Amino acid sequence: MLGEMKAVFSGVQPSGNLTIGNYLGAIKNFGAFSEEYKSFYCVVDLHAITVTQVPAELRRRTYETLALYIACGLDPAKNTLFVQSHVPAHAELGWILDCFTMFGELSRMTQFKDKSAKHAENINAGLFTYPALMAADILLYQTDVVPVGADQKQHLELARDIAQRFNSRFGDVFTVPEPYIAGTGMKIMSLQEPTAKMSKSDENPNAVVRILDPKDDIIRKFRRAVTDSDTVVRFAEGKDGINNLMTIYSCFTGKRLDEIEREFDGRGYGDFKLAVGEACADALAPVQSEFARLMADKAYLESVMRAGAEDAARCAARTLNKVKKKLGFVI
Ligand code: TYM
Repeated sequence: MLGEMKAVFSGVQPSGNLTIGNYLGAIKNFGAFSEEYKSFYCVVDLHAITVTQVPAELRRRTYETLALYIACGLDPAKNTLFVQSHVPAHAELGWILDCFTMFGELSRMTQFKDKSAKHAENINAGLFTYPALMAADILLYQTDVVPVGADQKQHLELARDIAQRFNSRFGDVFTVPEPYIAGTGMKIMSLQEPTAKMSKSDENPNAVVRILDPKDDIIRKFRRAVTDSDTVVRFAEGKDGINNLMTIYSCFTGKRLDEIEREFDGRGYGDFKLAVGEACADALAPVQSEFARLMADKAYLESVMRAGAEDAARCAARTLNKVKKKLGFVI
């Protein structure tokens, strides 16, 4: 709780062009909290540099991610939208929480294991302590709910453990956050390797549908999606490719899986893939045009991020001061 209100916090890394996984698993669900929660949505650039970034691209994607938040329906008047590095309290509390996070806990994080396998030449300390910074993001705002995709569940559990550990030593300092993992869209899979998560850093362009892809590309990628040798559109074990396409179609159209099975009864995969591509492209079209309009107005985006950082910094300072007092820092 932040004062009288419940709080929601989530973040997206500006580390690649965002995918429909980011959209369906996370961003699309953020707006639902705006009316009843004090809402913080952050572009987590400090997290992004745990892997090597090209500075000009990082800068561009930071603007783009903020613009996408707004284009996906987050009204800056109702949501605090900001950039992580603009609020130094994140790095400060991140360091403090490093000292309350165990080496063994961090070693068990699957994202760390995956990323260190993928970036063997750059297994830096930031990549290792990434989840403690993520806990700081969340705990600074006395967050009640964190909407994320399924891949962030383990990080959320660690954030809860860190909060409880700190509270049990120093009293009720942090709200212990709950994850909010949306049912259907929580794990969108790669179109080329449907047992692996769709990831914005995937190097195979056909595996990933990006929020900003033109309609033709979207249709083509779905047409090429890996399926199986069966011909029936049915949600079943062993049909990972079709299950993923049905999930995506369900998210974009609101139809249930049994309705989708009936809709495509007696029709082949070709028809189905085209329908998924069209539903996806149609749903993204308004987001894309709003995005283009926003990106043409950098001054507006800068005013949003500046106001967001000011509000976030004010809220974060209250928690950080309390933490410092508890620790015995002279303030
Ligand atoms: P990131 O930038 O990898 O992803 C942003 C959000 O998108 C979700 N997501 C997916 N959901 C469904 N299917 C997929 N294929 C898929 N891929 C990504 C992620 O679960 C996430 O919700 N560590 C976070 C960023 C972060 C954060 C935070 C999140 C930093 N601090 C505090 C919440 C609270 C990350 O790397 O997200």
